[in-house]
Amino acid sequence: MKNSSRRGFMGMAFGAVAGVGAVASLYAMKKSWDPLPSVKAAGFTTLDMSIYEENVLVTEKWRGKPIFVLKMSNAMVEKAKAKQSDMDRLIKVGDAYYAVSIGLCTHLGCIPGYNASTEEFLCACHGGMYDVAGDVIKAPPPRGFDIPPFKVDGMNLVLGETSEAYDKMKTNGTTL
Ligand code: FES
Repeated sequence: MKNSSRRGFMGMAFGAVAGVGAVASLYAMKKSWDPLPSVKAAGFTTLDMSIYEENVLVTEKWRGKPIFVLKMSNAMVEKAKAKQSDMDRLIKVGDAYYAVSIGLCTHLGCIPGYNASTEEFLCACHGGMYDVAGDVIKAPPPRGFDIPPFKVDGMNLVLGETSEAYDKMKTNGTTL
């Protein structure tokens, strides 16, 4: 074999090895980015609803999305009773009512902040506002917060499972 063709062969061999190495490392990187199979298959989150305090917003996480959990006080429930669209949004677990929403503004997806003294959410991006139950009270958001699929199981709320109560919210247009 002449020197030049030998160099050509070696170059191709190295190139092939480097190519295989690059594909292998890309595959390894992709594997580390993907969720674990168990997480992907399950895709639900169980919340113990007994730990929340009235009018204290807690942000949980479900499928990578922020989930607002807000326990209603008696006064908040009384206020919500005056507005059917608010009552439709509340979830009863045990003796208490909760607003559980996907914490993303339905306008362009910013995360609104909660003001416990006014009992309202304000989205700082374009000034959209939501009431305590998550219903929209000031545009530009086109609708209230979306509600994740849920199922009440004793004092737990399982996010990612559906139930009759959740299906009703979808049917009556409370959530998408
Ligand atoms: Fe919230 Fe625009 S993203 S008002």
